[in-house]
Amino acid sequence: MGKLFEAVKISDSVYWVGAIDWAIRDFHGYSTNRGSTYNAYLIMADKITLLDTVKAPFKHELMTRISSVVDPSEISVVISNHSEMDHSGCLPDVIAEVRPDEIYASTMGVKALGKHFHAGLPITAVKDGERLSLGNRSLTFLETRMLHWPDSMFTYLEEEQILFAQDAFGMHLASAERFDDEIEDHILDYESAKYYANILMPFSPLVTKLLARVKELDLPIRLVAPDHGPIWRTGIPKILESYARWARQEPTTKAVVAYDTMWQSTAKMAVAVADGLTAGGATPRVVPLRSSHRSDLAMEILDAGALILGSPTINQQMFPTLADVLTYLKGLKPLNLVGAAFGSYGWSGEAVGYLNDLLKQMKVELVSDGVKVQYVPDDNALNECRALGVLVADRLKRTVAA
Ligand code: FEO
Repeated sequence: MGKLFEAVKISDSVYWVGAIDWAIRDFHGYSTNRGSTYNAYLIMADKITLLDTVKAPFKHELMTRISSVVDPSEISVVISNHSEMDHSGCLPDVIAEVRPDEIYASTMGVKALGKHFHAGLPITAVKDGERLSLGNRSLTFLETRMLHWPDSMFTYLEEEQILFAQDAFGMHLASAERFDDEIEDHILDYESAKYYANILMPFSPLVTKLLARVKELDLPIRLVAPDHGPIWRTGIPKILESYARWARQEPTTKAVVAYDTMWQSTAKMAVAVADGLTAGGATPRVVPLRSSHRSDLAMEILDAGALILGSPTINQQMFPTLADVLTYLKGLKPLNLVGAAFGSYGWSGEAVGYLNDLLKQMKVELVSDGVKVQYVPDDNALNECRALGVLVADRLKRTVAA
């Protein structure tokens, strides 16, 4: 029997020494229903190297795993690929304990870590393409600015062909298994897509450029080791292809109908819109926002061609759940969507206009002015909603066929 929190050997000289956060369900507003991991890696080269750390409360788990391989004071080099707190939270404490000879981050990483910790950490900036010898191993740094923070970078371990990719290609998934091929495909597909939608979607044009660069570099890659979730061993071509597809966000015939309701009038309208979408040959996904998480809606948008929003008017405003998700979705910058709005009202009816305005700000192409119904929809009003669904479906089919 081993001991608590042992390291996991993933390659000749590399160990996973991260932490498993089984309990987290809210990651800065992203619903992490399967928990997460904070991956850190120990390279047992001539110069023993630690790549990234973990969220502060998990420092003990990190240090215990390191200690299962080597005395942490033997670590010579610490590298920060990404300064966000889930990877750097315990960096100052680790540095104080380990006292490494060398600490590296990207140029922007040095600045970001300085503004996080105000600790005067002696960090050396490395440039894009710079190599670092660890004696019998060598690393190359690749800047990946704005993927997804200004400081983000990849580190490539040449002799063992491992790409340490920080957040890229990651997912929020707590598991005892460390490799992708030990986990069911449907879980990998779902969680990697949700991660892309919520973390990387705003930077899709940069993802496309990065993938082209990685292809051009033609690096042999045996493992892709992200900072969250499993290490890619078998599914590397698949996750690269998925990223290329998600970054393109090509329109499909899937239409997301996201709504909230006060007295079920807007809910009835949503169902009628969905009926029209089906009749017109599109695939509706109806998302009741009061009981759905914004990050699950983002995931639904990732491979959709249309976003149709429904809100009642309450005190001359849209319903607050719509304001929440639209603030969030606007920031995620989804591409290539058409859309429309609908909603019930009592006497003023501003909500549909506000939704239209927000859809336009999100560069969603409106297919109509929308449907407004006073109080409770009758059959005529529901048929109008159904016709809206058919109109969107026709538009999607034409776009996809083009
Ligand atoms: Fe996993 Fe951007 O931190």
